[in-house]
Amino acid sequence: MGLVDTHCHLQSQRFDVDRATVQVACLKALDWIVVIGDDIPSSEAALDLLGPRIYGVVGMHPYYAKDFDDATLECLRSMAATEKVVALGEMGLDYFNEYSPRDVQALAFRHQLDLACELNLPVVIHNREADEDCHAILSEYADRLAGCIMHCFGSGPEYARKFLDLGFYISFAGNVTFKKAIQLQEAAKVVPLERLLVETDAPYLAPVPMRGKRCEPHYVAHTAAFLAELKGVDPAALEAQTTANAHQVYRIPKTA
Ligand code: NI
Repeated sequence: MGLVDTHCHLQSQRFDVDRATVQVACLKALDWIVVIGDDIPSSEAALDLLGPRIYGVVGMHPYYAKDFDDATLECLRSMAATEKVVALGEMGLDYFNEYSPRDVQALAFRHQLDLACELNLPVVIHNREADEDCHAILSEYADRLAGCIMHCFGSGPEYARKFLDLGFYISFAGNVTFKKAIQLQEAAKVVPLERLLVETDAPYLAPVPMRGKRCEPHYVAHTAAFLAELKGVDPAALEAQTTANAHQVYRIPKTA
């Protein structure tokens, strides 16, 4: 069993010039990848990429919460019925880029959490500088959710523990490898291997030594290697466990 990228945006315009090449390269290096939507068009574009060893997640990012309406909900419901759609997201709260008012973000978040509970699908959470509110909302849903991934984890060890206490998975992207990401690295240390995931969030946040470049899904290997070193565990063990975790939370059979 090799590595997987649990979160990338291969449908991003930044891959328009060479998407097929990147796709071949990443599927050569990785067992499988998950392409994540941010809004309706990018979720549809994620569906267009589904295929052998490519899974999809559909949802509405908090940036676009002000555009979330009944039609969005129905659209997500119908897209979620597509084979190989393994979760809803990314959804959540972003108080760093407050493109939508906080109460509007919360409402769109709750609508999607309700839908995930109804459809029995896991969720992929975007939380940026909104720890307290994000934790409060998710606490209400934790018992009913089929699974939850705190994607591109950006908080410190205190909230890592709080989200772990809710039974969630914590996923680290390339930014954990950045030299000044001390808090994030402290958070990674408290996450037990059996709750740890790795992702790229490509095309964003390329890990060291690729930092500053366009991120590609197979760069997840750098993040995994960094985390193994940071946590003092065997790199092969970390790879095997994080991939097993990804199979578990996304409910992707190991034979797939
Ligand atoms: Ni993302």
